[in-house]
Amino acid sequence: MKTMEWKDNKLILIDQTKLPDELAYFICKTYEDVIIAIKTMVVRGAPAIGVAAAFGMALGYLADEDLDLVADEIKSSRPTAINLFWAVDRVLNSNNPVEEAKKMYVEDIETNLAIGRHGAELIAKGDTILTHCNAGALACVDYGTALGVVRTAHNQNKDINVICDETRPLGQGARLSVWELQQDGIPVKLIPDVASGYLMMEGKIDKVVIGADRVAYDGIANKIGSFLVALAAKRFHIPFYVAAPLSTFDHEISIYDTTIEERGAEEVLYYGGCRIAPKDTEVINPAFDIVPKDLISGIITEKGIVKMDKFKEFFINLK
Ligand code: MRU
Repeated sequence: MKTMEWKDNKLILIDQTKLPDELAYFICKTYEDVIIAIKTMVVRGAPAIGVAAAFGMALGYLADEDLDLVADEIKSSRPTAINLFWAVDRVLNSNNPVEEAKKMYVEDIETNLAIGRHGAELIAKGDTILTHCNAGALACVDYGTALGVVRTAHNQNKDINVICDETRPLGQGARLSVWELQQDGIPVKLIPDVASGYLMMEGKIDKVVIGADRVAYDGIANKIGSFLVALAAKRFHIPFYVAAPLSTFDHEISIYDTTIEERGAEEVLYYGGCRIAPKDTEVINPAFDIVPKDLISGIITEKGIVKMDKFKEFFINLK
């Protein structure tokens, strides 16, 4: 299963808003279609947003648009995942936008396989792994980052079990992670977001592996709720790992200066199409939060695992 495909100068995306009920596709013929797909979360997850944005640039190029303007428009579609900005700039600075986007597509899969290989070294036989949101194949071109680690450990017959937080308000854990793990026959159970602390207290979780939308020298940004999971994991001495490609690293800012996307009230007011709060209720709906570096046990990249005591050194050397 690939989250996206480039065919006949069009970008075909799995429409993630329709999962798990329907496997439908969203076809982008113009760069504006790609912007709509990113904004409405037809395509979501940092690496997937990045590669889709690269193909958006390719569509702009094929339509003979002013690529600087296209780049600015695509960059304004979602603010938090740095992969979007990285991808747009990489295509903008290339000689051939279509070929560059295709290259990034292939690289994404290779990167995730490498993250999976490195990360699986941290997983012991019989581990139960908690994950939050969807950092899986659906969040990338294929295979996934956090779920790439899970997939590799499963393929190595480590008899792992996965617990997915439902990930309110949009349910990426329930709708997407559970769905894609079931497709691969990987044992998975769904929990309400509020249950992870109790399960940790009960000794039911051995490790946490999540993805990231941005990694800086002092922490990471990821789906809202990641911080609370990290706090609980620290309380019970449960290793908390972040799986992220180097394209998610931000060398410019402190993680606390990340622009956190604020999404619409309707995402919180409605659940499965039903309103769950009084009409006109005021809502606060930040889509991401920050996990400070002291709550993270290590970052799993395509170049290997970096423990946090060596992270600053690793980060500076990458520059
Ligand atoms: O709002 P989303 O669904 O785009 O948020 C996705 C996440 O927070 C993922 O954990 C992150 O992008 C890493 S995906 C490999």
